[in-house]
Amino acid sequence: MKTFIEPFRIRMIEPIHMSTREQREAFIRDAGYNPFLLKAEQVLIDLVTDSGTSALSTRQWSAMLGADESFTGSRSFYRFREAVQRLFGHRHVIPCHQGRAAEHLIARAILKPGDVVFANTHFATTRANVEETGAEGRDLPIREALDPANLFPFKGNIDVEVLEREIREVGAARVPFVIITVTDNSRGGQPVSLANLRAARDVCARHGIPLLLDAARFAENAYLIKLREDGMGDVQPRDIARAMFALTDGIFMSLKKDGLGNSGGLISVNSDEWAEKIKVRLLATEGIPTAGGLAGRDLESLTVALDEMLDEDYLAYRIASTRRMGEQLAAAGVPVVQPFGAHAVYVNGRAFCDHLTDEQLPAWSLSAALYVHAGVRSWETGNVMQGRIDPSTGQWRWPALDLLRLAIPRRVYTQAHLDYAAEALIELFAIRTSVKGLRFVYRPAELAQFVATFAPVG
Ligand code: F0G
Repeated sequence: MKTFIEPFRIRMIEPIHMSTREQREAFIRDAGYNPFLLKAEQVLIDLVTDSGTSALSTRQWSAMLGADESFTGSRSFYRFREAVQRLFGHRHVIPCHQGRAAEHLIARAILKPGDVVFANTHFATTRANVEETGAEGRDLPIREALDPANLFPFKGNIDVEVLEREIREVGAARVPFVIITVTDNSRGGQPVSLANLRAARDVCARHGIPLLLDAARFAENAYLIKLREDGMGDVQPRDIARAMFALTDGIFMSLKKDGLGNSGGLISVNSDEWAEKIKVRLLATEGIPTAGGLAGRDLESLTVALDEMLDEDYLAYRIASTRRMGEQLAAAGVPVVQPFGAHAVYVNGRAFCDHLTDEQLPAWSLSAALYVHAGVRSWETGNVMQGRIDPSTGQWRWPALDLLRLAIPRRVYTQAHLDYAAEALIELFAIRTSVKGLRFVYRPAELAQFVATFAPVG
């Protein structure tokens, strides 16, 4: 059948506050044309992120009622630890409150000034945590990843030849670990193949360098391997995930994405020495090692999620649902990043708004226009988020891609909601020259997307 269905029923609902175009024009003006500064209740369909926004299942809620909230050594922690070890297979399990806390703990425990960390792509917070220690984070994406229209199935892959060369140049002693982000959120949510993970593992092993995954969306990556990699079609997502982790020395991750948690983070590593150092930092900044700042009920909910996130029916629906939205947009000529990943659809802002210059912030202006048109909130990952003044010329340096991300919360929106969002963007595409450019009114030195304000050009 052509129609796929959400593999769940809805037993609790949260009303959406409907609004008119005139109301939304006022809301976005009052928010300084920054969608991040809108109140969530002013939004109809919130596609700003897939992080921490999941709906919990009946199994998760019932497990939470049985939680043990003891200060230390709680039953809930031991259940969580067992489930993590069964799946990831490393010796040490360290919970913490979210992904960036895990990054902070690892970076502080292991890195020092002068070190170099290689990755397919560092997520923004990973890079910030690496570079705060005085180390350098270097991205080594494959060439295909830089072209939004290239249909290569694993555009999240790391360039292993460049990795080999750069390790030799820098010297292995200065490379404490290599990171592979699955899926590669910053480049369109593209997956990494098992073959690429194996090749990266071989390079690392030859130089005695540990390989870590930023595993925030590993279940979606595993399912895309099943769909796209030769010989993997009959393998269960759980077994693919285990095969991915078996190639690593550890993982760190946000449990707010595939982990189906409203909060939560995780470190799972083999090294006794690293685990000791990380726990010392954990005690100072997060909480005790058997909780990491999480409540017992969070740990219970996350334990159930480690099972549910790899359910094949759920993953098949998730990927089909994202692909359907992407295909609707592509069929109408909207310039989208292909092939489609799992957690989001990305729109090429410069191609959509080809009447706007980089200074007029195409993807950001489109994000504001989409909100006014239909109440859909999205996330710009482009000129505002990554644009910088070049210190040598004093001129703006724009990023290679100026994208709009429509991220899809897990188990929250029905297909009708996503059809509505796609239709809105398609309508806007037909009248795209009406999208007014925006310019900065207040531009802070850091974190522009969260606090900057804007005004229409002209
Ligand atoms: N790594 C990746 C690949 C991420 O996408 C994120 C967060 C993090 C680490 C940090 O985790 O939010 O739990 O601290 N991404 C969110 C997003 C914010 O919307 O893509 P966190």
